Amino acid sequence: MALTVLTIASSPMGERSVTRKLTDKVVDSLKTTFPDSHFVTRDLVTAPLPHIDGLFVAGVFTRPEDRNEALQAAVAASDKAVDELIAADVIVIGAPMYNFGIPSSLKAWIDHVVRMGRTFTNGASGPEGLLLNKKVIVVSARGHVYTAGPYTAWDHQEPQLRTALGFMGLSNISFIRAEGLQGGAEASEKAFTQADQQLSEAVNSVKELDSTKSSLAS
Ligand SMILES: Cc1cc2nc3c(=O)[nH]c(=O)nc-3n(C[C@H](O)[C@H](O)[C@H](O)COP(=O)(O)O)c2cc1C
Repeated sequence: MALTVLTIASSPMGERSVTRKLTDKVVDSLKTTFPDSHFVTRDLVTAPLPHIDGLFVAGVFTRPEDRNEALQAAVAASDKAVDELIAADVIVIGAPMYNFGIPSSLKAWIDHVVRMGRTFTNGASGPEGLLLNKKVIVVSARGHVYTAGPYTAWDHQEPQLRTALGFMGLSNISFIRAEGLQGGAEASEKAFTQADQQLSEAVNSVKELDSTKSSLAS
């Protein structure tokens, strides 16, 4: 089964980035497991999306056939990002923690892809996500530990991603967490061992999506 895998990179740290190293590892592992798949990368650092503005909001709330040239131009980047997301079966997101949340480049991507009528709609009983049967793998890296201990309430990175992705229907999410990286060599080693374990589990869970796709196709 051939999958389309979309990788979203948001760390500005280049080769020193932990999330980039781990997302590369996820992609390598997916390439081995699903060799016929198609891989697409959106790098939010080398090709950042702009902050949304008033023209953008006017554009997305105007029917496509009624948009003038300026409104069309204002939503063009968003349309492309949404098309990529709709086409993907697996979405791998590199999400460093910066100042207790996600990098602003990744927030800008969320602002461009949460689109009424394209990635969510308003159903009879409230908003409904339209991105179904997709797998998300979030690679998170952070200096301290937030899954337990005194800082759990300071984690605005993982809850924000779960909520925004879930709002679009993307609720099948595996988190790979390299956390506690600023706690010394031993803590770092523990973090990477845990991340590797979670990475294997996340890639294995894509096989379930693969069999769903196969049964849908047959
Ligand atoms: C600007 C900046 C802000 C950071 N803020 C936090 C933070 O709020 N909490 C935390 O635990 N680690 C924080 N860190 C540590 C990063 O989460 C850690 O370095 C991680 O590896 C970043 O992912 P990356 O290497 O892919 O960029 C921060 C690092 C930087 C450079």
